This record gives sequence, structure tokens and C-alpha cells, in this order.
Amino acid sequence: MLIAPCHGMLTDHLAKFTEIKPSSGTRSPATSPQRKMRISGSTGAATLTVVAIWNVTCWHVDGERIGEPGGMSSLQLLEDTALAASPVVANNTMNRERGLAGPNSYAKELGFDPYEFLAAREGAQAWLDLCCSSGKALIHAAGRFAAERPESAVTIVGIDLVDHFLSGPRPPGLELIAASAAGWSPRRSFDLITCVHGLHYVGDKLRVLDRAASWLAPDGLFVADFDPGSIRDGRGRSGARKVVAALRQAGWEYDTRRKRVSCTGPRALDLETAYLGADDAVGPNYTGQPAVASYYEWSHS
Ligand SMILES: C[S@@+](CC[C@H](N)C(=O)[O-])C[C@H]1O[C@@H](n2cnc3c(N)ncnc32)[C@H](O)[C@@H]1O
Repeated sequence: MLIAPCHGMLTDHLAKFTEIKPSSGTRSPATSPQRKMRISGSTGAATLTVVAIWNVTCWHVDGERIGEPGGMSSLQLLEDTALAASPVVANNTMNRERGLAGPNSYAKELGFDPYEFLAAREGAQAWLDLCCSSGKALIHAAGRFAAERPESAVTIVGIDLVDHFLSGPRPPGLELIAASAAGWSPRRSFDLITCVHGLHYVGDKLRVLDRAASWLAPDGLFVADFDPGSIRDGRGRSGARKVVAALRQAGWEYDTRRKRVSCTGPRALDLETAYLGADDAVGPNYTGQPAVASYYEWSHS
């Protein structure tokens, strides 16, 4: 078992690997050396990274999580590459069939119909949907614009980690892109940005919230399902109260009953946190589906 109270112990431990020699050691500037350490060693063929935060230790080789060293029972945090391969993130049981309106729909989950929202506004509208899955709701909306408002020049963009997009003809103005919401960036602003039950599976959820809100048009709307209980600190404690307080202080709205976060107009979410990694073994969240917890170190704990 590796407990790493100091940088030197981690380096010594890495040196015990006959093939992997420590090549670099970095400390997060936002945290004290006793609280977070990340050290990498490389053979040229593989890179081992060990991250230790108090009793939270995780090991990765070439970005992939490896087994627990020495029967370690402490929590292992996943980096984005390993998280993308997790059966919790890429599985067939999650709801990917939501349409635009109806009982299993975006309109039901968001509390409004995105098509009606966009159609009621002046000028050429743009909608970005993060974690769009098959793109069914977006295809339906783009089809309605083409049929009912061909002059509207709407732009509809869907992003999903997995390329499960429905096949068939795509209405004009629609783009479905296989990419992670954590890394993808648009070249334009949007009048509506949604993330329907997608953040539950993202690693750095707070960064996605922060980035997405910065892509809004001046009077654009961002809405996402968000479970603050999925935010933890480096000791595994809930960060829910802190996150909700910070969101509200920054001018966001959080609907506690519906677990829905929203904001109007571009907005910064400066939470002064350092993302540590994700845990895909926390079990079901309020939706009943297994979800991903996200760990952060707060600058001011
Ligand atoms: C429960 S489904 C919801 C899909 C859709 N929004 C809906 O409501 O029908 C969650 C989706 O998030 C996607 N996803 C998970 N992590 C992602 C990430 N980092 N970036 C983009 N999409 C992601 C999954 O592939 C999956 O399609």
C-alpha cells in the first residue's frame, strides 16, 4: 500500500520499480505538498503516474488506471482517458432515447421545449447540446426548423464522447460531433446551451460548467442537470454546499428540487479549485444510474 505523506516518499517508491525511473515530480501550486502530489516516471515505453491526496491514491500507466498496488484499498481517481473507457460512462443502459418533446424528452427534463425557446427569439439562433447521445432531440429540432421556418438559418450543434449518432439524412444547420465536453471548444457563441443528464458522467464537471457558460450569447441561456452531491473534496467529503453557494454567488441559479443549474449570459465561475480526478465506483445517483463523482482541492478549505 502506498501512503504518500511527502514528495520524497513517492519518489523513493517509484525508484523501486526496476524499469520505471522517476523522471519528474510536480506539486500543485494550489495545494500544500502534504495534500497533493503528482509524480511521473517513464521507461520510454510506458509512463507511470502516481497521484496522492491524503488517503486518496491513484495509479495510471499511459493514462490508463492500473490495479491496486499491494492490495491497496484506498480510492483510485481516474484521469479523463481512463474515465472515457469506464463502463459507467460508456454503457448501454443509460437513457439515450430522449426526443425533443413528449414523455421521455428534453422538454420534460429541461422544463421547456428547446425548439419553442429558439423559435420565439429574434434573429438566427444557435443551440449547443453537450452530451447529446444519439442526437435524436437535435435532429428533431433541426427538422422542425427546416420544415416550419426554412428562413431561420438555425445552427444546432451536438457533442458526445461516443459516436452513437442516429444515421440517416441530417437536416440543414445540424452538426453532431464526437468529442469530450471537457476538451472541445466552439468557434461561436450560442443562444441556448443544454446538458441533459450528461454532467453525471463527466470528470471535471466544474470546468465544463465554467467553459459552457462562457460560450453564451449576451442573453443566451445555459441549463444543465447537475448533482452537487457528486462534487467531493480531496478527503472525500461532500463539496455540495460549497459549490451551490459559489454558483449562486456568481449569479447562477440552482434549482435544488430538480437538481438543475442555469444561468443567463456569459458568466465566470471562479471556484478556486484544482481538479483531482474522478471516481466511477460511487454507484447510482438520484437518477438511479451509476454516476461519476468528481474530486477537487479547494484553495480555501
Ligand atoms: C444519460 S446519457 C444522456 C444523453 C442525452 N443528453 C439525453 O438526455 O438523451 C449521457 C451521455 O453523456 C455522454 N458523455 C459522457 N461523458 C461525456 C463527456 N466527457 N463529453 C461528452 N459526452 C459525454 C455519454 O456518451 C452519453 O451519451
